Amino acid sequence: MQYLDEKIQKRIDDKLALLNSFRPLPISSVRKLKEQFKIEMTYNSNAIEGNSLTLKETYLVINEGLTIKGKPLKDHLEAKNHQEALEYLYDLVEKDKKNTFSENLIRSLNQIVQQNIDKEWAGRYRNSGVIIGGADHRPPEALEIPKLMRDLVGWVGSNNKKMHPVDLASIVHHKLVFIHPFFDGNGRTSRLVMNILLMQSGLPLVIVLKNDRKKYYQTLSFADKGDYVPFVNFIARAVERTLDIYLKILSPSKKGNEKYISLADLAKESKFTEKYLNLLARSGKLEAHKEGRNWITSKDALKRYMDSRERVRK
Ligand SMILES: Nc1ncnc2c1ncn2[C@@H]1O[C@H](COP(=O)(O)OP(=O)(O)O)[C@@H](O)[C@H]1O
Ligand SMILES: [Mg+2]
Repeated sequence: MQYLDEKIQKRIDDKLALLNSFRPLPISSVRKLKEQFKIEMTYNSNAIEGNSLTLKETYLVINEGLTIKGKPLKDHLEAKNHQEALEYLYDLVEKDKKNTFSENLIRSLNQIVQQNIDKEWAGRYRNSGVIIGGADHRPPEALEIPKLMRDLVGWVGSNNKKMHPVDLASIVHHKLVFIHPFFDGNGRTSRLVMNILLMQSGLPLVIVLKNDRKKYYQTLSFADKGDYVPFVNFIARAVERTLDIYLKILSPSKKGNEKYISLADLAKESKFTEKYLNLLARSGKLEAHKEGRNWITSKDALKRYMDSRERVRK
């Protein structure tokens, strides 16, 4: 069963293959990209759950050890914890060639995310009910968690060779937040767990942007009802965004090195309005990724979209 849209799948596979064709990648550029992505993910993943630090403040707290006046201590701890969890994750993916996936791993990530914040429950399954703010879904009873978690790990074991990594990682992400095994930090932990599976398959770090929170919650709620298509393809777009940024920085030659421009600039040079291009970008028909609040795309991407339309007509 594949939920991932075939066109998006092909784009992801092609972009990853292109990125891999540049190997060995320049070490210092890759290091910088990783650092940038770690901070960006720490900022976004914490901001989604209500952390008040900005991207810049997150950078200052982590890299300069600064304390931001007027911001809660908890927000500082969350930034440091999340960063540490990412370092743990990178280390693990690099060293563990067997691609282990276990309950212990999931619990370790929650332990790091919640350390010094909730000493009693960090890394431990909850022992009573929880609700998810802003969602209709009611997570299962605490008593069921051990079995559900065993089943989840078993499910990964029997599906990880059969499914596209984007399908697999997205579904695991949803299954985990659906179970909601911890009192807190389920979202952050699940986004880290999803990244383990993506990175084990060779993809770079994938970020759910704070600006996409509404869509993230909405597509998760569809998945609650068994409709996985919107969520998987929402994540797929995030995967593509990372690949685009990696390719933009790491392409050694003109090949694959497209000139990226904003939708407003592209609209000036094409027959489409910015609004229409925005619609195409949001629906995934036009390859584009978000940087800050703006969609970034290229003339080549528009040409590929036009060509694909031509083919459909024929
Ligand atoms: N409808 C839903 N079904 C399942 N999970 C959801 C739904 N809506 C939101 N979530 C998840 O719940 C998370 C919030 O749970 P929480 O334990 O507070 O995690 P965190 O503190 O890391 O945000 C969200 O980040 C999201 O991943
Ligand atoms: Mg929370």
